[in-house]
Amino acid sequence: MDLYEYQARDLFEAHGVPVLAGIVAETPEDARAAAEKLGGVTAVKAQVKVGGRGKAGGVKVAKTPDEAYEYAQQILGMDIKGHTVHRVMIAAGADIAEEYYFSVLLDRANRTYLAMCSVEGGVEIEQLAAERPDDLARVPVSALEGITLEVAKDIATQAKFPAEQVDAVADVLVKLWEVFDEEDATLVEVNPLVKTGDGTILALDGKVTLDDNADFRHEDHTKLVDERTENPLEAKAKAKGLNYVKLDGDVGIIGNGAGLVMSTLDVVAYAGENHGSVKPANFLDIGGGASAQVMADGLDVILNDDQVKSVFVNVFGGITSCDAVANGIVQALDILGDKATKPLVVRLDGNNVEAGRQILADANHPLVHIAKTMDAGADQAAELAHAAK
Ligand SMILES: Nc1ncnc2c1ncn2[C@@H]1O[C@H](COP(=O)(O)OP(=O)(O)O)[C@@H](O)[C@H]1O
Ligand SMILES: [Mg+2]
Repeated sequence: MDLYEYQARDLFEAHGVPVLAGIVAETPEDARAAAEKLGGVTAVKAQVKVGGRGKAGGVKVAKTPDEAYEYAQQILGMDIKGHTVHRVMIAAGADIAEEYYFSVLLDRANRTYLAMCSVEGGVEIEQLAAERPDDLARVPVSALEGITLEVAKDIATQAKFPAEQVDAVADVLVKLWEVFDEEDATLVEVNPLVKTGDGTILALDGKVTLDDNADFRHEDHTKLVDERTENPLEAKAKAKGLNYVKLDGDVGIIGNGAGLVMSTLDVVAYAGENHGSVKPANFLDIGGGASAQVMADGLDVILNDDQVKSVFVNVFGGITSCDAVANGIVQALDILGDKATKPLVVRLDGNNVEAGRQILADANHPLVHIAKTMDAGADQAAELAHAAK
């Protein structure tokens, strides 16, 4: 999960990273009140989960509360790279002397953590990395050791900070590592990390990605989820413990096992080329124990997607045999009743496949079509989706 800047700021503060005061506002009036409370110069900052807000006009420095009101009025509702601004953060104004760059991230390709640091921040870091790679220090960080004070000093030195500044910067890098490590993040990026007129080092902007796999040990992270921007079907699926990702097509997909579901997406996309280019509408893995309830929950989520015109259920009976899955489908259709409105192509294979197909045939549900093979099922589901468009 990516965090908003204000959420990253709060996490930073909780771990002792020096940050400036910030207050979130959803209306220009609240923005003015926040600026009055903070006093002096403030920055009005669009809260969207995308970089380059400054360039897009989403960060403005206000000299007075009235100016903060005006800027908030301009920025709220603005579209920044496809993200609508619902909130701004009113941040205390920084007296910026210099802007630096620091990030630590999970470097999957090299199976390690990687710290990147430069005395040239504020700019697009991709541009710096491409044009002057020597000015961006890239230092692998051991997962066991982390960024100790010693490692932090090494990073700052490699980033070409002047010797007299290394200690102050290193202190902040150690704190930022604590955020990364203790919050189970896969990215902590500060651009810019600034030095103010009086020599203080501050994190002025923060981008944090939390590792959802570690949610179980961070109960407090659930409150960071922004329901407003979360896809409602994905939220519903998550609440039911389903592994669901909404996609942009017309053929709903249900399968068991991530590998089978992935290949089902491919096969449906391929079959769709012969049927008006229909595409898979989602990824949904109902896992090993495909009980009637799980099947009903899965179908309920998929059938509620208006884009879905047909559903392809592709299940390989292993631990849960095909007759159990077939019973699950029949019961699920019972549970859903009138809510089930779209054709369902079912392909079963594996343990007790004949019994499973027989159960479906006996139930003789008007919406259910039985397919013998994965390719035939994908083709039929694509054809039905195309016909219903
Ligand atoms: N609190 C602040 N006070 C003064 N200037 C700021 C403040 N926050 C950001 N800025 C300026 O705006 C620029 C862009 O802001 P930033 O938070 O980095 O957004 P983004 O990276 O999305 O453009 C910063 O590089 C800095 O120069
Ligand atoms: Mg920035």
